[in-house]
Amino acid sequence: MSRMPDPLVVLLLVGWVGHAYLWTAQLNYLYARPISKPFLKLWRLFTGLVILGFPLLLAAPFVATKPVPPDQPDWSLFPTQAEWAWMAYMAVCLVFGGVVFPVVTVIRLLRRPPAALVSVRADTLDLWTELGPAVVGNGKYPWVARLPLNDVFRVDFTELTLAVPGLPPVWDGLTILVVTDVHFHGTPARAFFDRVVDEVERRWPTPDLVCLAGDYVDTDEHHSWIGPVLGRLKATEGRFAILGNHDEHHDPERVRKAVVEAGYDLLGNGWKEVAVRGERCTVVGHEGPWFAPPPDLSNVPSGPFRLCLSHTPDNFYWGQRHRVGLMLCGHVHGGQIRLPVVTSIFVPSVYGRRFDCGVFEGGGTVMVVGRGLSGKEPLRFRCRPEVIRITLTRPTAVSDSPRPGRAVD
Ligand SMILES: [Fe+2]
Repeated sequence: MSRMPDPLVVLLLVGWVGHAYLWTAQLNYLYARPISKPFLKLWRLFTGLVILGFPLLLAAPFVATKPVPPDQPDWSLFPTQAEWAWMAYMAVCLVFGGVVFPVVTVIRLLRRPPAALVSVRADTLDLWTELGPAVVGNGKYPWVARLPLNDVFRVDFTELTLAVPGLPPVWDGLTILVVTDVHFHGTPARAFFDRVVDEVERRWPTPDLVCLAGDYVDTDEHHSWIGPVLGRLKATEGRFAILGNHDEHHDPERVRKAVVEAGYDLLGNGWKEVAVRGERCTVVGHEGPWFAPPPDLSNVPSGPFRLCLSHTPDNFYWGQRHRVGLMLCGHVHGGQIRLPVVTSIFVPSVYGRRFDCGVFEGGGTVMVVGRGLSGKEPLRFRCRPEVIRITLTRPTAVSDSPRPGRAVD
């Protein structure tokens, strides 16, 4: 006969989940802000220790209690201020572990796909199976890249069809290749990226636009990969790029030079008017909050469609306020580790897990958040790297109006 779990053990586990939830939320928030990298690394270590140290926190009041001499009254029955604080924190942990976390998880699981998402389809190419150890390289943590169940070498080629409100009629059928977060540092090896570009050329040889959403390098030595890898991606109408937060740490001016020499229009925190299929449009770059000031759109003509490349999806509401029709983002990598049911955990966004990956829609803006092609830490679980090809289409008359934000992975 199976035994019921001890209620006290269940309570402790729920409290631990709540404790982890709270500390992860603050870490997600801090990682979305332009804060010193050494501090963030230390703080991440501290946060990990605090999360693992929950049993010690739990035992603290009992360990700290001093024995009462027999000739003195026993005041230990009355909580001290520290004990009140301890009990309040435990109550908060129980609420977050037992109510907030399950409710948020269920809401995330029940989210309907946005109306803008007409279709999604992904083919996976397993480059470990195809190329073997040659894909690992000699960058950061190659032993991590080799771990079983690690998805870093299984690349999704994702095809999205999006019905974007306000799309110019001549853009019906326009295709956009989105590549983000290549994080060149040696792992994966050059052979991995070369093979991905080979596959892009084979599947989608002539997109109308190519858009790069930042995070090219994670060392001072890999700027030389930008041209030979990303310069091969061709487009018939235009190629645009912005930088990401990791580029800030490795000579960003050198990154900009390499991206321009690879043939891209580097937008920075700015905008330009271009013609795509003969239709005027405004292409905006947003590299904030790491590069400032944010783009100033006060002089942008009001009529033409606005396409925005933003490294972080945190600029979604900024895009809505500035009448961006389509926003293309990266940065959050889908969280890299996605547990069954729970999905993502660590997502460097001020909105936590809300915009971890997929398609979102709200306030007249459609946003695509790519999971990226790589990462500084070559570890992914149930979160494959991806390259995205978007085909744009005009919404039907009934649905051609702003809709509330919704999402799909
Ligand atoms: Fe990134």
